[in-house]
Amino acid sequence: MTANELRQKYLDFFKTKEHAIIPSSPIVPENDPTALFINSGMHPLVPYLMGEKHPKGTRLANSQKCIRTIDIEEVGDTTHHTFFEMLGNWSLGDYFKKEAIRWSYEFLTSPDWLGLDPNRIAVSVFKGDEDAPFDQEAFDTWLKLGIPEARIAKLGKEENWWGPAGKTGPCGPDSEMFYWVGDPDKVPESFNDDNDLWVEIWNDVFMEYNKKDDGSFEKLSQQNVDTGMGLIRVLASINGLDDNYESELFKPIIEEIEELTNKKYSEEENKRPMRIIADHANACLLYTSD
Ligand code: SER
Repeated sequence: MTANELRQKYLDFFKTKEHAIIPSSPIVPENDPTALFINSGMHPLVPYLMGEKHPKGTRLANSQKCIRTIDIEEVGDTTHHTFFEMLGNWSLGDYFKKEAIRWSYEFLTSPDWLGLDPNRIAVSVFKGDEDAPFDQEAFDTWLKLGIPEARIAKLGKEENWWGPAGKTGPCGPDSEMFYWVGDPDKVPESFNDDNDLWVEIWNDVFMEYNKKDDGSFEKLSQQNVDTGMGLIRVLASINGLDDNYESELFKPIIEEIEELTNKKYSEEENKRPMRIIADHANACLLYTSD
């Protein structure tokens, strides 16, 4: 599958669930003085997550260009990037956890859509803390869909809470989906988020909190869904690649670096530096093309 096909399939799927398709916003925030770049699909939609009416309604889907520097030290591995395209579907006070999770699972596993092997999927949910309770509803929904309990991790804020995009604003517990990119005959019985062969491909965030200036959380006036699926990670996974840099979007850049440096990407010691150069070149190029 190509990147264009994957993007189109995603948007078509959410059209069947009555979502309006909206364009990517510019990568420099128009209304957020606390951030230099748009770092997620939800970032340009903050006013609507806070309750303002969106002209296209309460169900939206898009592909948003993002620059995320918070993970910059991870760039150099096989799956992190500073610049990426994030596929997202949005409920602005419309549907909530059950529908979001069911639709994510349908898109990933239905033969009409991506047709991924359900046996290679694991998920995580928020385990609860002093700010918000354990996400029982997300946990139960995954169990009902047939994900075995050993493949549903309960994790804390660091892993299973998303936002706000800047210092304050909408945020909430999330549920992440992982795909096993290792040997399909050796999928571990249980999920372990330290194993890099479980690649995070999608994140459903249940945005019902607002983080305030003093660091406390209050309930928003509406319950929203923010989802984020990294186009390139999913593309690599469904094409059977365990390295994003071998996918259609990065291969030509890596080949150019090989030519300029007269070194081979296949040699282990070159991989990390070449991925970093490729990532940064890609980010500069796409940033300036916006
Ligand atoms: N905001 C969440 C993320 O960026 C989901 O879109 O992962």
